[in-house]
Amino acid sequence: MPDWLLYRGTREPHDGIDRLPPPPPWRSFDGGPTLNIPPAGPAGRHQATTYRPSDDAVQQVNAALYLRRPLLVTGPPGTGKSTLAYAVAHELGLGSVLHWPITSRVTLRDGLYQYDPLTRLYAAGREGAVNGGEPAPDDIGRYIRLGPLGTALLPYARPRVLLIDEIDKSDIDLPNDLLTIFEKGEYEIPELARRAEPTAEVMTADGSAADRVTVTGGTVRCSAFPLVVMTSNGEREFPPAFLRRCITVKLSQPADQVELAAIVREHLGDLADQSDDLIGQFFERAKQGTLATDQLLNAVYLCRYSDAADRHDLADRITPYLSAGPDED
Ligand SMILES: Nc1ncnc2c1ncn2[C@@H]1O[C@H](COP(=O)(O)OP(=O)(O)OP(=O)(O)O)[C@@H](O)[C@H]1O
Ligand SMILES: [Mg+2]
Repeated sequence: MPDWLLYRGTREPHDGIDRLPPPPPWRSFDGGPTLNIPPAGPAGRHQATTYRPSDDAVQQVNAALYLRRPLLVTGPPGTGKSTLAYAVAHELGLGSVLHWPITSRVTLRDGLYQYDPLTRLYAAGREGAVNGGEPAPDDIGRYIRLGPLGTALLPYARPRVLLIDEIDKSDIDLPNDLLTIFEKGEYEIPELARRAEPTAEVMTADGSAADRVTVTGGTVRCSAFPLVVMTSNGEREFPPAFLRRCITVKLSQPADQVELAAIVREHLGDLADQSDDLIGQFFERAKQGTLATDQLLNAVYLCRYSDAADRHDLADRITPYLSAGPDED
């Protein structure tokens, strides 16, 4: 395999990220002082350690890392679009994945930070009363929590992985709003920028209240550009200006029965060898309408406990077509 690949898709953690060259001059960011990325939690570990990416996905992840560009991952349901983010973070030791699920109500501001002025006001009143009317020192950062996007743009020494999940469900303006942020690699928190105090200690999306980070001058600027993985089920066309600034990859269903069996083996071990019949049945049915790989995983797992005579019926029943398939009555 050519040496330029840092992410290889082998599922074995390694320190390949240390070989990431400096960014192209037009994607260089100078935020600091740098922070260490927090270690990964248990979320998504099984998915990360069992994921078999396509060669194309491996190449495009590396292109996104080198070029410091967001990765737009499209494809049918269940082809592993969201899992790709966890798999890269696991293999390259990039810590916990920042997950930002998108709906039509989500705004850019939700992704950047949340500020709770009411609680701050009550706390100021309470503390003033305790101090005999003297105003307490103002710790505004206790009432600001960065969102997943806002946290990913902190000046981490290594790229954080940010999963912007189902961006095609967003309000029409979100993709363009994101572009501006990704071009600049920074954003402002106006509530901090207009204060006289130069710094504030704010909370992050995945840190505890005790793990606050310092924001200077009300601006957050990244150092290592995050690996941004945006997933889409294709419910929306994106503007050319958006596509031009992304690295794109289209995932598809496993091409043949051998690949399908290999995925089942990753998840369920030897059970795959006893399930050739179910895998074949699933593969044939998938030619008629949309089915997702994780439906097959459910079927193989469940059918182990069923009577031999029932297993094909049971497998069909729990793997209904997800979009226009043939009439099944
Ligand atoms: N290539 C693969 N190798 C191993 N497991 C896979 C692969 N593709 C899909 N899976 C498994 O299928 C399940 C679904 O994957 P995932 O949720 O990432 O798909 P998705 O494309 O994001 O789906 P959706 O469009 O519904 O959000 C996961 O449990 C994942 O582990
Ligand atoms: Mg998904």
